[in-house]
Amino acid sequence: MSTDATHNSSSTAGEIEKAFDPKLLVFCCNWCSYAGADLAGVSRLQMPPNFRVIRVMCSARVDPEFVLRAFERGADGVLVAGCHPADCHYIGGNYRTRRRIALLKMLIQQFGFDPDRLKLEWVSAGEGEKFQKTIVDFTNTVKELGPSPYRGGV
Ligand code: FES
Repeated sequence: MSTDATHNSSSTAGEIEKAFDPKLLVFCCNWCSYAGADLAGVSRLQMPPNFRVIRVMCSARVDPEFVLRAFERGADGVLVAGCHPADCHYIGGNYRTRRRIALLKMLIQQFGFDPDRLKLEWVSAGEGEKFQKTIVDFTNTVKELGPSPYRGGV
């Protein structure tokens, strides 16, 4: 009897762990990454359905406040996707983004978040497979990190 109870409690913990489905927010720039995401979709590449995309004109449009607010509201991970270096349609937007994300990673650490919960990736319009792989890898990374410390709101 006690063995069953022990078994049941450990399997319940395992089920909760397995059941953790991270909520990811993905900012895609209009000119490259959004088209890459679209290509992944129309190519029917398999991706976990746990992410929501917000299209912005350029990755540099992603204000640090957007990222902090996403975490505050329970996102387990935030991905910012933009054009490859030198391909930004606003000349140097993605260079600004790269610096901003590096600073934001340090900032979110101060709030108790693992910096790996924030990711920057370059995805061009023709890289549907890269978009898919990025989503799959990021989902796995965040799954390993577990639920956000702010999950459920503050
Ligand atoms: S337009 Fe894509 S990163 Fe600037």
